[in-house]
Amino acid sequence: MIGIFDSGVGGLTVMKEIVKLLPEYDYLYLGDTARVPYGNRSAETVRQFSEEAVRWMFDQGVKLIIIACNTASSSALRYLQDKYLVDRGVMDRKILGVIRPTVEEAIRLGCQRVCVVGTAGTVRAGAYEKEFEKLGSKAKVYSYACPLLVPLIEENWHNKPEARMILKKYLRPVKSCNPEALILGCTHYPLMMRDFKRLMGKRVKIISSAEETAKKLVDYLKRHSEIEKLLRKERRRLFYATDDSPGFKSFAERVIGKIGKINLAEIGK
Ligand code: DGL
Repeated sequence: MIGIFDSGVGGLTVMKEIVKLLPEYDYLYLGDTARVPYGNRSAETVRQFSEEAVRWMFDQGVKLIIIACNTASSSALRYLQDKYLVDRGVMDRKILGVIRPTVEEAIRLGCQRVCVVGTAGTVRAGAYEKEFEKLGSKAKVYSYACPLLVPLIEENWHNKPEARMILKKYLRPVKSCNPEALILGCTHYPLMMRDFKRLMGKRVKIISSAEETAKKLVDYLKRHSEIEKLLRKERRRLFYATDDSPGFKSFAERVIGKIGKINLAEIGK
């Protein structure tokens, strides 16, 4: 089973892109709806919550976990990989995040000036900047937090003029950087893709971490047959949340269409 973990419902945008390209696999989605949002929390707390989620997912038989949440990928991914895979020499499980595949795409496009928008936690961690550096890129990277977008999108207010006004205000400093690309470094932002495109103009390439993660996962599975062969292909979709939150179903149906039952996951107990 492929596990997709997010702080809440936003990771469904990542799941949508992954399932579009890889429909044959079994998926388990876990949203930590009891403790969302992660974006304003400390790195330590995000690490602790993500660790509890990852442990629970492995216990459910998940072999490959995608940390769909940018905030958790920024603060917890390396820690979790080291603790659960590298240090123990584990070969039959993997944990992947959304930042590396997104940065790889910006580098592939040859971008030298890149802006990133995300939560305060993602920006504070400087995770995108670090990844560009790690991959040997000399690109200038500027990150901006847009904290009001997540609640607006979850309230389904993102098509209202008020939301567009807020986005326009957030994008003012981004535009003055004159970037070649803008990375949407948050699970929710692809739902405002049209507005990002319109406000940034045709010359700026908008890179969605959800789409890039899905594309790179296709490649990854081709290159890693040792993991691929452990994944079941019965097209099962399981949805779990840590709280019986009423918004999950309606958000999910807006993003990926009808979903079955949402199960309660008891994690961190
Ligand atoms: N999933 C988070 C992210 O992509 C956004 C929501 C939150 O703050 O938890 O960073």
